[in-house]
Amino acid sequence: MSIEVTPIPDSFAAMVSGIEISGNAAPEDVARTRQALLDHGVIVIRGQQFDDHQHVAFSRLFGEIELHTQKAWLLPDLPEILALNNRGERGTKPIMNGGAYWHSDVSYKARPPIGSLLHGIEVPPEGGDTLYADMCGAYEALSDEMKARLAGLRATHSYVQRYEAMSADDPERPQLTAQQLAEVPAVSHPVVRTNPESGRKALYINEGFTVAIEGLPQHEGRALLDELFTHSTDERFRYRHRWQAGDLVIWDNRTTMHCATAYDRRHARNLHRTTIVGDVPV
Ligand code: SIN
Repeated sequence: MSIEVTPIPDSFAAMVSGIEISGNAAPEDVARTRQALLDHGVIVIRGQQFDDHQHVAFSRLFGEIELHTQKAWLLPDLPEILALNNRGERGTKPIMNGGAYWHSDVSYKARPPIGSLLHGIEVPPEGGDTLYADMCGAYEALSDEMKARLAGLRATHSYVQRYEAMSADDPERPQLTAQQLAEVPAVSHPVVRTNPESGRKALYINEGFTVAIEGLPQHEGRALLDELFTHSTDERFRYRHRWQAGDLVIWDNRTTMHCATAYDRRHARNLHRTTIVGDVPV
């Protein structure tokens, strides 16, 4: 097999074919896949057959795997896998509305992940897509005046408000324990971050977890965030992934945001995610 990278028309994402999803993937293939991820922000590997152990082993080729704070969603026998399964499985709690808002995974931690690998296992016939936004493209399209305004600004990211809002829509969502709450204090990140591997700048704010701009009066920070959210989720910066069973989608969490779309909850939706440890945004 040889790796092929094919840009997906009318989007910033790309299809990658010819890579084996297992811990045995050839180092040169992993290097090309990593480069495609840096170049495109989101890559789609379609029509694959692999199990959770191969998913985990393949993910480790990209870095150390991070475990989610909410342990009730992790496979008990393989906690590296977060089961985004609306039925629950092997004792995990169902997730009815996970990711149904624009966010960058785990931006509420001091060292947010560099990326995630999401495997479509069972998908509804309609809806339940994942939308992605290119935050480098969104940054680059800002006016020089806005870029100057954002330079040096920092924002507060918090998990707790979002978690409570999602719990109101999903009575099955387990409460965070005192220990889990202690793991997720609010954190501060630059509003514009630079991907250390590519040198590209990206907007780093998201509707899900960014709650305030530091040093600005609350209403002014809110207005700026709303303006940036509207700008960055504009159609021209988006890719819509329509899931097929067997898809593996990998995204650079430093330079993209994503959002799951609605679907008829009578249908099963089951995706397995691994998440790769990242560094402090600069
Ligand atoms: C996620 O937010 O990581 C999952 C997105 C999805 O369920 O489509």
